[in-house]
Amino acid sequence: MTQRRPLIAANWKMNGSVELVEQASASLNSLAVSAAEILICPPVIFLSQFPKSDKYKLGGQNVSSERSGAFTGEISADMLRAAGAEYVIIGHSERRALFAETDAVVLAKTKQAISAKLTPIVCFGETLIERQQEKTMQVLAQHLDAVYAAHPELLRHSVIAYEPVWAIGTGETATPEQAQQVHAFIRSHLSQYDKEAALQVRIIYGGSVNAENCAALFAQPDIDGGLVGGASLKPAEFAAICLSAQD
Ligand code: PGA
Repeated sequence: MTQRRPLIAANWKMNGSVELVEQASASLNSLAVSAAEILICPPVIFLSQFPKSDKYKLGGQNVSSERSGAFTGEISADMLRAAGAEYVIIGHSERRALFAETDAVVLAKTKQAISAKLTPIVCFGETLIERQQEKTMQVLAQHLDAVYAAHPELLRHSVIAYEPVWAIGTGETATPEQAQQVHAFIRSHLSQYDKEAALQVRIIYGGSVNAENCAALFAQPDIDGGLVGGASLKPAEFAAICLSAQD
C-alpha cells in the first residue's frame, strides 16, 4: 500500500491579522500531530510574522507566472520561498473566476513554483451547473490535461486539491462518497501520465470542511487531507481538524 502523508492546509484567503497569526501559531505549537503535515497559507504579508516551528509549514495563496521584472503588485515564487513558504496554492476557483486565471496561467504558475522548490497545490473543481449537467468528470479531465498532459513530470512535485466550486464557502459539502468518487477518478485519470506518480500524489479535498465533517472525509481511501477555508480562521476548530487527520 502506498503511504501518503495527509496534508491539512489552511487557506486564510484575504482574512486574518497579526493577532490571528499569534493565536494560530500558539494553537498549532501545542498540538501533537505527527501523522499529518499541517500547512498555513495566510495573506503573504503575514508569512514572515509566523514564528518558525516544526509543527507547521507555510504557503502562499498565489504566485506570479513570471520569474521577475516589471509586474507591479506581483510576488514571485523565489520571494515566497524567501519569506518562509514551502507550498503555494495555484488555480483556486476564486482566482479562476475573479481574476480570470486560465489553465495556461495555472500551468505557468505551477512551473514557476516548482522551479523555486515550492510545492504547488493545484486546485480543480466543477461548478454547480457542470455537476447538475453530469459533466464533473469531463470538466476535471479537461483541466487536469491542460496542466499535466504535456508536462507529466510536474505531477511528482504537486499536490492536487479537489474543490467543487459549489461547496466553497457555502456550507454545502460534497458527501464523503461523492468526494471519494471524484478523488478516485482524478487519481485514475492522472495514472495515464505516470502510474507511480498518480499513486503517490496527495489529493486533498476542499469545500466547507469543518470539525464535524472532516473525519468522514479523511477516512476515504483517496482523500489525503483537506484545504480548509472558513474553519481555518478559528484556531480551536482548525486544531480539531488537524487532530482528526491522524485518527
Ligand atoms: P471553505 O473554503 O472551507 O471556506 O469552503 C475552502 C477553500 O476555498 O479553499
